[in-house]
Amino acid sequence: MSDSSTAQASPLLYFVAGLLCASIASHLLARPSPKRDGNAMIGEDEDWDSDDDGPAEANCPSSAWGISDAPYKMVLCVNTSLSMGKGKIAAQCGHAAVGCYKRAKRHCQAGLSAWERTGCAKIAVKCPSEDEMDEIAAKALSRGIPIYLVEDAGRTQIAAGSRTVLGLGPAPVREFDGVSNHLKLM
Ligand SMILES: *[C@@H]1O[C@H](CO)[C@@H](O)[C@H](O)[C@H]1NC(C)=O
Repeated sequence: MSDSSTAQASPLLYFVAGLLCASIASHLLARPSPKRDGNAMIGEDEDWDSDDDGPAEANCPSSAWGISDAPYKMVLCVNTSLSMGKGKIAAQCGHAAVGCYKRAKRHCQAGLSAWERTGCAKIAVKCPSEDEMDEIAAKALSRGIPIYLVEDAGRTQIAAGSRTVLGLGPAPVREFDGVSNHLKLM
């Protein structure tokens, strides 16, 4: 018998390499879309293709961000009053991170690539009150920080429509002063 693992590995490798190239190409080819300039975003758990953009917002300050504004970070503000299990929190943070990434890819590409080139820093923090989450979201928007609010579809653990995680960024670390830097780490 010949060594079948070698024979099978190479088509798989080509497949994976192809996927990577396709995703890199789509990243490189993605064009800025000036008409879709808002940063507000509400996402529903398990409902990923319906992410339409928020209202247009002129003169977004984030359009000037670049590598010289490093360090960057992404902040995931978790609704701790929901008492979600660890796995649930992890999944919701994952949704928020992907949502923020997609938002930033459309609206803050230079900032996004600066964040990627400097290690993709992310932190998760506790957000105990709804008022605070609203205030953080409003301040973030006014500074051009991409935001993505995850609302749970309510299939597991918690009530439908619960706001589980507010994702912010990526944005230069300094931009979070007075926005979310007072929140405690998870
Ligand atoms: C957390 O979710 C609960 C239930 O939906 C909600 O009442 C509460 O305001 C939320 N907290 C935050 C910080 O959004």
